[in-house]
Amino acid sequence: MDAERLRSEGVDVVDFGAGEPDFPTPDNIKQAAIRALEQNFTKYTATGGTLELKKAVCERHKLDFGTDYKPAECLMTVGGKHAIFNLMQALVNPGDEVVIPAPYWVTYKDVVNYAGGQCVFVPTDEERGFALSAAMVEARLTPRTRLAIVNSPSNPSGAVVDRGEFEKIFQLTRDRGIYLMTDECYCKFLYDGQPFSIASLPGAKETVLVAGSLSKTYAMTGWRIGFGLAPAAVVGAMTKLQSHSTSNPTSISQKAAVEALRGPQDSVAAMLAEYRRRRDFVVARLRQIPGVQCAEPQGAFYAYPNVSVVLGRNGIQNTLQLAERMLAEAHVAVVPGEAFGTDRHVRISYAASMHELERGLDRIHRFIAQNS
Ligand SMILES: Cc1ncc(COP(=O)(O)O)c(C=O)c1O
Repeated sequence: MDAERLRSEGVDVVDFGAGEPDFPTPDNIKQAAIRALEQNFTKYTATGGTLELKKAVCERHKLDFGTDYKPAECLMTVGGKHAIFNLMQALVNPGDEVVIPAPYWVTYKDVVNYAGGQCVFVPTDEERGFALSAAMVEARLTPRTRLAIVNSPSNPSGAVVDRGEFEKIFQLTRDRGIYLMTDECYCKFLYDGQPFSIASLPGAKETVLVAGSLSKTYAMTGWRIGFGLAPAAVVGAMTKLQSHSTSNPTSISQKAAVEALRGPQDSVAAMLAEYRRRRDFVVARLRQIPGVQCAEPQGAFYAYPNVSVVLGRNGIQNTLQLAERMLAEAHVAVVPGEAFGTDRHVRISYAASMHELERGLDRIHRFIAQNS
């Protein structure tokens, strides 16, 4: 049973499943797309994106993080997911190991497997806010490790990797000739401290691969614009692959992306402020439910509460069944933790209005209280 189908049957579903901003794309970005259409910017572009857009990505990354990428080290892709897919296809060979902290974003596992690689998961501890340390990564490295992935802030836990630990992870991987892919999809949605990029460390550009996305930062999920920042040879391999699959990302979206990156950035700060307000509300409400624990997310827009209090009760054996029952009986959609590699959690996206959050959390509270 899925939320969409229930809805089409007229059921009032509260949807905390979607991993995308509920805000509209800012108007200046939409206007840039309209101008692109009016100016007939509707043809093929270079496979890896327009030079204008690559320059805009490099400039934005420099402004935000102090990096120094050149357009030849940049590839525009059809969303951030596509950059990750291309990177894995370009770099991972059958038998290579890829280190992935858990809980992890679902796609990593499948793209690594598709490339013939072996996933090596690094479990993190909920009691410590799902914090990742260099020692935890080091313990999983073997002579077959090709690449390590860090996603900070994390989907699904909202955990942020401590800067000192991140730097140690970089040194560790660099010293062993291992690539480090940093997924910066949520890099602007950080509740404390300054966003930073591991790619800004001296010498990092040789082994660090940045997977970036405009989807969440600028509420542009449907426009499908992401990018990779990597050594020119890696970008070359990714571009070759892309030239025989999708070719360029949509020309109109590329023009909109230039405006997103070069135009006013206040919408990003406004979204972050709203996400913070919602985070505080959601975490407080979850913690009021007897038996539920919730680590405080430090970024992104997901809460990842431990709901083991209902597991093994009333026929609910795992979080997959829990999510199904919650949808069918309480009409709230959440994503089961099994999808992210842990078995006692569900993911709640708080990229939803306060009104929806209030309604949904009332329902979750009632459902868990009745089933625990
Ligand atoms: C951790 C993470 N990385 C990358 C992406 C890619 O987003 P997109 O392909 O929409 O740009 C997502 C989207 O949910 C994500 O959660």
